[in-house]
Amino acid sequence: MAIVHRPVLLEEVLSFLVPQREDALMVDCTLGEGGHAEAFLGRYPSLRYLGFDVDPVIQAKAVTRLAPYSDRFACRLGYFDDLLAAWDGLALEALLPCLGGSRPDLVLFDLGISMHHYLESGRGFGFGKDEALDMRLDPQAPRGAAQIVNGEREIELARIIFEYGEERLSRRIAHAIVEARGRSRITTTAELASIVESAMPGQYRHARIHPATRTFQALRIAVNDELGRAERGIRSAAAILAPGGILAVISFHSLEDRIAKNIFKELSGRSTWEPNEPIGKEPGKVEFELLCKKPLEAGPEEAARNPASRSAKLRVIRRLAISGSAVDAGKDAE
Ligand SMILES: C[S@@+](CC[C@H](N)C(=O)[O-])C[C@H]1O[C@@H](n2cnc3c(N)ncnc32)[C@H](O)[C@@H]1O
Repeated sequence: MAIVHRPVLLEEVLSFLVPQREDALMVDCTLGEGGHAEAFLGRYPSLRYLGFDVDPVIQAKAVTRLAPYSDRFACRLGYFDDLLAAWDGLALEALLPCLGGSRPDLVLFDLGISMHHYLESGRGFGFGKDEALDMRLDPQAPRGAAQIVNGEREIELARIIFEYGEERLSRRIAHAIVEARGRSRITTTAELASIVESAMPGQYRHARIHPATRTFQALRIAVNDELGRAERGIRSAAAILAPGGILAVISFHSLEDRIAKNIFKELSGRSTWEPNEPIGKEPGKVEFELLCKKPLEAGPEEAARNPASRSAKLRVIRRLAISGSAVDAGKDAE
């Protein structure tokens, strides 16, 4: 399969995620087709690179693309939040000997889905093609979009569409779905798009975005627990980051961006956490600093070249090279 996804904010990501030592370890939590990965591996000849993705089809594309780097690149299939939470037990040296034994120096999240999913996965992520209503990134996941649309109560459908799609007409849409599925099961993207469209008052049907855009986003987020996983994944990544390590998050809608923004604010706004607090596994003081106060966005050139970049926002944080406890220990010794 050909590469169909262009990595977004690539120059910005490269300018922030600069390895501070030759054999730094980078963890790419959302490997996708490996666009960011290829740029990093090509630029830094000693960088060790570990990729995660939960979709076996797209991960196979990345493995083929990154074969020239197989002496310092490997990947694991799975949800990034699960893998990061299990970091100490991942046995990375068994995957590739050079990957074992260290914490990540650089971590990248490029959240959401790839052009591959829209264009060639056949799993109904968009309404541009008439496909089975599925939307699972992990083909083994217990339920896809069709199960939600045909099985959830109207009130829960309305909640999903409102909370994850920020859709003001969520109740009308949920009602239309329940009426339609009473006639026959909804199984395709075209059926769902047409039901949503017919539930909209006239003026909304000719809006700038397709009337079903928000409903499709909401279902995808619900199917893959995207917000919960982003929250847990970013927190776990911060907890295992090496001293001096840098963590970057690219998000594509306000719900995701809010998660990164709040976690980064929390991490940088105070200098300590206690051992039994949810952030971090380490007792003592740990400090982070924001590397950009406002999120970075695509410039006009990238936005024109790559429409997918238009909603992208990049936030970056760094764990200080010397943790608070080490600073205090140094002061005590003076
Ligand atoms: C925007 S794409 C990444 C594109 C990649 N940076 C590139 O340049 O080719 C996001 C990828 O993350 C994966 N993904 C999304 N949520 C995930 C999760 N919770 N755990 C693991 N992978 C996930 C998707 O399958 C998709 O391949």
